[in-house]
Amino acid sequence: MNIVITGASKGFGRAIAETFAVQGHDLFLCSRNPAALYKTLEALQLHYPERSIKAMPADLSEKSQAEAFGKWVLGYGVPVDVLVNNAGLFEPGSVHNEPEGLLERMMAVNLYSAYHLTRTLIPSMIERKQGHIFNMCSIASLHAYPNGGAYSISKYALAGFSRNLREEMKPHGIKVTTVYPGAAYTNSWAGSGIDPERIMTAQDIAAMIHAASQLSPQACVEDIIMRPQLGDL
Ligand SMILES: NC(=O)c1ccc[n+]([C@@H]2O[C@H](COP(=O)([O-])OP(=O)(O)OC[C@H]3O[C@@H](n4cnc5c(N)ncnc54)[C@H](OP(=O)(O)O)[C@@H]3O)[C@@H](O)[C@H]2O)c1
Repeated sequence: MNIVITGASKGFGRAIAETFAVQGHDLFLCSRNPAALYKTLEALQLHYPERSIKAMPADLSEKSQAEAFGKWVLGYGVPVDVLVNNAGLFEPGSVHNEPEGLLERMMAVNLYSAYHLTRTLIPSMIERKQGHIFNMCSIASLHAYPNGGAYSISKYALAGFSRNLREEMKPHGIKVTTVYPGAAYTNSWAGSGIDPERIMTAQDIAAMIHAASQLSPQACVEDIIMRPQLGDL
């Protein structure tokens, strides 16, 4: 299968890339920082030399770049079997006093990126009547909490996008899975003082996404909700 993963240079995205590479799939990867992205590409290619792994740096919060990345993938002329809309950014804040412009930035990176990339890739999936789209939401898409602010609003919106897409794609044979992870240790948590053992690993999220991608065409995992064993922080 061909797997497109955004935000793949580190964290969940990198773990998802590794999990699919181990299972013998080919990858198209994207994130903004070219050095970090190509470093990840080289490390994966070294471990899985038989896999085709390609990468394009792009800032997916820009509509033109999200579309350009999608067109670059389509340019290879291979079917996109799985799209993981994972790129995202966490910034805490509160509606009443977070910095001006934070909502716009959070919406651009957490929602519009997935919306525009999906719209670029989905016509080819519809044509083939096959494909699986994962949208990386959050427990912050399900529950409001103090200091959630613009991040939580954007993740609620992403869940709305994902659930609408699920309904639309039923007759087209395309699966849509909304992923709602609680805290899992990635760079986002570095320096926070959180004990990595208290929360999940990026590999936990990757394992569930891979498992959900392996079912028969007539089964769709609609929601994946995951929390640390001890519950939310
Ligand atoms: N870790 C958690 O506890 C947790 C919990 C719930 C949900 N999530 C969600 O899971 C996703 C991944 O989180 P993570 O913890 O793995 O984050 P991370 O370690 O910070 O990685 C984020 C990835 O996204 C890329 N990225 C950020 N902005 C981008 C943009 N505008 N265009 C393209 N790529 C971009 C980053 O690379 P560049 O910076 O180079 O672009 C990086 O590859 C996010 O959507 C996050 O909201 C995380």
